[in-house]
Amino acid sequence: MTSPVRTERKDDVLVIISDNPPVNALGAAVRQGLSAGLDEALADDGTKAVVIRCDGRTFFAGADITEFGKAPQQPSLLDVIERIEAFEKPVVAAIHGTALGGGCEIALGCHYRVAARSAKVGTPEVKLGLLPGGGGTQRLPRIAGVALALEMTAKGDPISAARAQEAGLVDKVVDDAALAEEAVAFARQVAKVRPLPRASERDAAPDPQAVEAFVRANGRRFKGFDAPAANIACVVKATETSFAEGLAFERAEFVKLLNGTQSAAQRHMFFAERQAAKIDDLPADTPLRRIENVGILGAGTMGGGIAMNFLTRGIPVTIVDTSQEALDRGIGVIRANYDRSVKSGRFTAVQVDAIMARLTPSLTMEDFAQSDLVIEAVYENLDLKKQIFADLGKIAKKGAILATNTSFLDVDAIAEASGRPADVVGMHFFSPANVMRLLEVVRGEKTAADVLATVMALGKTIGKVPVVSRVCFGFIGNRIMAQRSAPCTEMLLDGASPEQIDKVFTEDMGLAMGPYQMSDMAGVDVGWHRDPNRIETIRDALCAEGRLGQKAKAGFYDYDDQRNRTPSAKTAEIIDAFRAKAGRAKREVSDEEILERAIYPMINEGAKILAEAVAQRSSDIDVVWVTGYGWPIYTGGPMFWANTHGLDRIVAGLERHGVEVAPLLHEKAQSGSIFT
Ligand code: 3HC
Repeated sequence: MTSPVRTERKDDVLVIISDNPPVNALGAAVRQGLSAGLDEALADDGTKAVVIRCDGRTFFAGADITEFGKAPQQPSLLDVIERIEAFEKPVVAAIHGTALGGGCEIALGCHYRVAARSAKVGTPEVKLGLLPGGGGTQRLPRIAGVALALEMTAKGDPISAARAQEAGLVDKVVDDAALAEEAVAFARQVAKVRPLPRASERDAAPDPQAVEAFVRANGRRFKGFDAPAANIACVVKATETSFAEGLAFERAEFVKLLNGTQSAAQRHMFFAERQAAKIDDLPADTPLRRIENVGILGAGTMGGGIAMNFLTRGIPVTIVDTSQEALDRGIGVIRANYDRSVKSGRFTAVQVDAIMARLTPSLTMEDFAQSDLVIEAVYENLDLKKQIFADLGKIAKKGAILATNTSFLDVDAIAEASGRPADVVGMHFFSPANVMRLLEVVRGEKTAADVLATVMALGKTIGKVPVVSRVCFGFIGNRIMAQRSAPCTEMLLDGASPEQIDKVFTEDMGLAMGPYQMSDMAGVDVGWHRDPNRIETIRDALCAEGRLGQKAKAGFYDYDDQRNRTPSAKTAEIIDAFRAKAGRAKREVSDEEILERAIYPMINEGAKILAEAVAQRSSDIDVVWVTGYGWPIYTGGPMFWANTHGLDRIVAGLERHGVEVAPLLHEKAQSGSIFT
């Protein structure tokens, strides 16, 4: 097999070039190639300096994640980095694209770093539940100081070449097109420098204040995760011990994380997100329709949020509503959201003006005549949506894609109403639509291949994680969510409190919110019949008392003016009254029972969704729940969690509570296999 690494001689400089598409991951063959390049440079007296650079779209984007957990192959990444740093001739990294993780660590092992202006440098291992295990936690604080090292390792966001230069992580920033040439010239300039600058020989100054401030500022963000604390501990260690001891500490912490379930879950999600974009029966080269402008019907919270996704990415939007008042209100909300981004520094006022100039408000659907894609975002009513699609079918130009943002309804029925079902698809955004990453793409019975491919690609363009679902009530996400509501109500009647049930979801399972916190946030009255005299459920009783949720400062919980939540005696009274009326005795409900009755049915439904091919694969279900419903990434989504929790345990729990077990779940539990 030919090596992905080659060398080129530029007089007295040897250039070692990696070409390992797509992202120059540092797999065994690359590491061996780098080592061979160094051998060549060492053996040749005429070589006075070395440049390491990459072909393709990026400098090394990190260790090859697919190698984790397999038998190690020599040389290790750590060996290569050590060898580069100890090398007796100057080694210069020429960075373009994203130097990430092990790639950043290779660069830190080099004596000098030259970067293209558009390059980024970072150590995102924490996002995989890991830490930089190639000496990064020890070299970063030695070069850039503790504060930046903490930011880079424990949060994992990359920094620009300019910022890296300010911090001393990059020695020279050059024009992108001149990188290869400039790096060779730089290497020639430093060819005679001795002693060579080696990060490991520098000291890392302790900075306890920075550590304390960092931990305080990020406590909430890191809650539940193991890796941030390990990253912080390694950076602190760098300020306390020798480089060798720090490196040994880093290694031990890395191995601990690598063997833990959190990193396995986070790595699963890394590949799951990328896999979700692939549609099994759709050729990768399916032609795409051009989307240069978008029409949105409905200027409410959802329509406005959806519009922002396109406007921000430079795609003009025509937004239509039925009254001037609704239109003005919607546009006011969009403007206010962007004004907040000016305050936070994300955009300048001039940029926001340019963004808003791409928005055309209108009171007539006729103005969708030239739209390449029209997204309907009106309230959930099948007859209304069918009427709208019948109109859109006539108004929209030939080849335009017609999308519905329904969260439950029958996309096939809506598609038929349009008279051109092949053009119709579901685009289910999640609120707030300008923030939430998930986009459920609902593939109708007759959705054309190019419509599906276009919407998937467009989803990525607007920064979403698109996941395909077939048509069914609630699609993947809401169909699973619906499973928990009836058993939770039953458990309230048995004697559990809303706060106990929410605790199992949040503190025990790590979800962002429990069902009753979510209900209060969304509004207890969503879907309520609005007759205060008709009290058939706990929810009816709450609504009749005006306990409509956070907006009324009372729902399942009580709220103060800052929306701080406390358990409600009134809600407890309402539940007690219902229990008495039903003639049920109050009993203790254990946390374990809540898990079994509220969470296990969600897994059971996931298995049905897979068997019906509503979702293409179990990892798609995980992506939906992690990116759209606040399931913690560190347990990998419901199906990955189920695998680690034990499918046989779940089957036994479901049976204990009289729930019919999905055949696929049964089969997997019996055969000892897992969801893959
Ligand atoms: N190892 C193996 N495969 C990788 C990879 C890696 N480090 N990084 C990306 N890939 C694969 C992806 O799975 C994808 O494969 P596919 O086409 O079969 O789905 C392909 O490369 C392209 O990736 P993206 O779709 O993500 O491409 P983008 O252009 O959108 O993004 C990127 C490029 C910013 C480099 C992004 O891929 C990324 O963030 N990669 C991960 C970076 C990372 O986490 N590095 C640290 C690795 S751990 C490490 O280095 C440990 C060390 O400290 C010891």
